[in-house]
Amino acid sequence: MDLESLKAALAASPDNVPLLLLVAKAYEDEFELADARAAYDHVLSLEPGNTDAMVRIAHLIDLEGRTSEAVLRVETVTQQAPDCAAAWILLARLQLKEGDGKDARASYDRAVSLDASLENDNLLEKIIRSGGTGKRTAMTSDGQLHEENWQDSGGLEGLDGVAARELELEFKINTDVAFKDVGGMEQVKEDIRMKIIHPLKNPDLFKAYGKKAGGGVLMYGPPGCGKTLLSRATAGEIKANFFSIGLHQVLDMYIGESEHKLHKIFELARKYAPSVLFFDEIDALAADRRDLKGSAGRTLINQFLAELDGAEANNEGVLVLGATNAPWHLDSAFLRPGRFDRLIFVPPPDQVAREEIVKIHSKDKPVVSLDETALAKKTDGFSGADITAVFDHATESKLEEAMKQGKIVPITGKDLVKAAKKVKPSTRKWFESAKNYALYANQSGFYDDVLEFMGLKK
Ligand SMILES: Nc1ncnc2c1ncn2[C@@H]1O[C@H](COP(=O)(O)OP(=O)(O)O)[C@@H](O)[C@H]1O
Ligand SMILES: [Mg+2]
Repeated sequence: MDLESLKAALAASPDNVPLLLLVAKAYEDEFELADARAAYDHVLSLEPGNTDAMVRIAHLIDLEGRTSEAVLRVETVTQQAPDCAAAWILLARLQLKEGDGKDARASYDRAVSLDASLENDNLLEKIIRSGGTGKRTAMTSDGQLHEENWQDSGGLEGLDGVAARELELEFKINTDVAFKDVGGMEQVKEDIRMKIIHPLKNPDLFKAYGKKAGGGVLMYGPPGCGKTLLSRATAGEIKANFFSIGLHQVLDMYIGESEHKLHKIFELARKYAPSVLFFDEIDALAADRRDLKGSAGRTLINQFLAELDGAEANNEGVLVLGATNAPWHLDSAFLRPGRFDRLIFVPPPDQVAREEIVKIHSKDKPVVSLDETALAKKTDGFSGADITAVFDHATESKLEEAMKQGKIVPITGKDLVKAAKKVKPSTRKWFESAKNYALYANQSGFYDDVLEFMGLKK
């Protein structure tokens, strides 16, 4: 029924609660929020404990930007009517918005247990990614570690439906990025083709020469220069499932749980082969062992190495990609044959790449008379992230002007060149550190590419 006929019906019986709720909902759909609120208030004047009206009002209050008040109101509903699924799901959304993943998860689970139709992968994924993973290993009062969720089993059977789905939501990334979305970097792309794509596509050919397909590839280089982007693009090129693991997602856990989770992640990747398991900022895991608190660090490293070696399971079709800005912090155990035994140096973006990055950044901004080539020339030594900073600087000062004038003031190429002078290229510092390691700790030619890039070796 449309709003007009509902209003007509309401005129005939103004105190009809079900009808009032329908009218209010129709107002919401039309974004007539004040009218919707008035209708819900009317419901409450007739039926003070009406949970539908109370939940919807909380929602409207959140839309006005008063989220913490909305939380208080919806919490009142969950206390008065603990079986109201709509209240729990709204509470979950609000808690997620407030950055409270764990509470959001509890509310979400409660809502779904009351009303299964409220299941929502999209929402759950967001909750999990903000820390609302499933139940954790809990310490019971007698001091026993008590597994509530991850089943202890070495094999794939250990991936029970619930845990597998959770891991998937947390780590599986859809990549529609491909090499064409990465500007320039032709040498790196060629490196990736030779070291990753061809071996995965022609494993038999590689075997014939005594080489193994699979294993690990380590990308290293200065920060902000496209390692993460290239990893995704690689997965896109080979059309493999892509699992991206930030190590804090594994490290911030109770003792024993991290190893378990890591194992499950590898199991999931094996199940989904061909797949790419991407460990970003892997130095966090493999950092100087002294940095890691207690013994959890070492057992986790050993677990990781065992998974890499495929000691207990077959890693065929699983490519492990690591990325790091600080390869010198990596434990040498990681670099042994069969582990991260192929290295790819990702240098700062070249002229073509910088032009591409400039183009990407100017796409959604009011930029005029910009000579991309000229700006790229002025940003030699800049990382992708530095170029982002150049745009941020220029945007900020223009925005200030726009506020004063009350209209859009375009960003010009000149503004950007000016902003570029204020940003310090961050890659130089990286090369200073790298140079020391490359010159004095260049075991088995680990840093040859860096030296070559710096013109110190041919
Ligand atoms: N060659 C490139 N083409 C397009 N964008 C790039 C390129 N290199 C870097 N970027 C952009 O710069 C930013 C930093 O890249 P990122 O992959 O996160 O760097 P890293 O992982 O090496 O620290 C990203 O927003 C990325 O989109
Ligand atoms: Mg990165």
